[in-house]
Amino acid sequence: MEPKVRSDIVKAPRKQSSKSTAVVAMEMENEMQQRSPLSSKDRPAGHFRNTAYMINKSRPHFDAAHAAGLMAVQGRSTTGRAFSLGTGPIDDRPEIIDFVRCSYLGLDNHPVIVAGAVDAIEAHQSLHWSCARTRLNFDLLAELEASLSEMFCARVIAFSSVMLANLGGLPLLASGGLTGGTKPLVVFDRLAHISLAFHKPVVADETRMETIAHNDIDALERLCREHPVVAYVCDGVYSMGGNAPVKELRQLQERYGLFLYIDDAHGISLFGDQGEGFARSQFPQVLGDRTIIVASLAKGFGASGGMVMLGTADHENLFRRYSIPYAFSVAPNLAAVGAALGSCKIHRSEELGERQRRLVQRIRAFDSGVATAEQGNPFPIRMIAIGSETKAIAIAKELLDAGFYTSVTFFPTVAQGRAGIRVCITADHEDGDIKRLCDCILQGIPNATAKPPMSPALL
Ligand SMILES: Cc1ncc(COP(=O)(O)O)c(C=O)c1O
Repeated sequence: MEPKVRSDIVKAPRKQSSKSTAVVAMEMENEMQQRSPLSSKDRPAGHFRNTAYMINKSRPHFDAAHAAGLMAVQGRSTTGRAFSLGTGPIDDRPEIIDFVRCSYLGLDNHPVIVAGAVDAIEAHQSLHWSCARTRLNFDLLAELEASLSEMFCARVIAFSSVMLANLGGLPLLASGGLTGGTKPLVVFDRLAHISLAFHKPVVADETRMETIAHNDIDALERLCREHPVVAYVCDGVYSMGGNAPVKELRQLQERYGLFLYIDDAHGISLFGDQGEGFARSQFPQVLGDRTIIVASLAKGFGASGGMVMLGTADHENLFRRYSIPYAFSVAPNLAAVGAALGSCKIHRSEELGERQRRLVQRIRAFDSGVATAEQGNPFPIRMIAIGSETKAIAIAKELLDAGFYTSVTFFPTVAQGRAGIRVCITADHEDGDIKRLCDCILQGIPNATAKPPMSPALL
């Protein structure tokens, strides 16, 4: 692999138009720091979380979204991005096009991936071994990690989800084990995904922790000047739109030795000759001892699970011995391992590039119809800003009635009063589906018309 720094990736926006769970959590965190009582002699209670507040505030919207048939939906995939809605006999069910699944390259129904899962289970006559990975592992899992390591030019360890990979990684980061024995100041981007932000209390129990504004490179640089060892935790591609300014982060790394922990769950597979992804493709061939990239084996990759890309044998040993889910949670099961091995085959073939190019074209098709804050960026996530939760739910219901399932987003996923609809575009959406979705969105939100319309030559 020859990881390349992509010059065609848009410059990271410094501002985020909608606040995510993490923003709200930070606001609550700041507020609570000022008025939190002490639960014991010297430890503040309610410092990081207020689940009761979150439940109380969001309950009416969850209730409304459930009543509208927008949440906890069941279905079975049929062809392309279509699925049969509901349960029971397939022929009696309406067929819906979904813009919810994050299978951006359309790989989740790919026959090679499905066959990989079936073959792995048949080879082992088993789905799962109930034992710690520190003891016994499937041979196919070793094969998968070797294949991923070669493709992404790193030491790759697979986990059964990205959430678990982060649960394993962040305590190690806080311990100083990944930074030569010195505990770093761990700095979180305020929009870092909940699977990262959730671990703030654990990190803060081991070392100093700060949360800074989204993509605030100046604040990060100030901290780098003031502290001998700083580690920054962020998403590569943000699930609610936008991306990390990887180029600027790398400059801080070169200047100050900044340690980077980037969760690129949504960026994997979409960029790079072998799908190394948004973040990995912007680092040199040798990842080194100052970078960890976490990514998904689901989403763009099309299988199931998560992975960490590490740069040194020492980091690998630490993860394989001390990252908690490596020992004490389920290893990727054989269906996941076999599916991921199938996906590796696709990633090593010309089909990957074809799918990447098709995705670019589909994103442009959407952008030519509907204006969003993400318009023109190369990522497949588009957020239709609406504001009122009630209105967002009503519009998402109209889209569902028209045959399109989208994700209505409201607090705690985004800030209160900033509800919207998330559209995940994939390479397997038909142009006609995208056009019809755009028309339906514009019926509900006429001022979302894309301006100026993109030149057909660009499509
Ligand atoms: C940045 C990021 N990390 C992690 C996750 C969770 O991944 P998983 O479902 O594999 O735990 C998500 C969301 O799906 C995400 O957006």
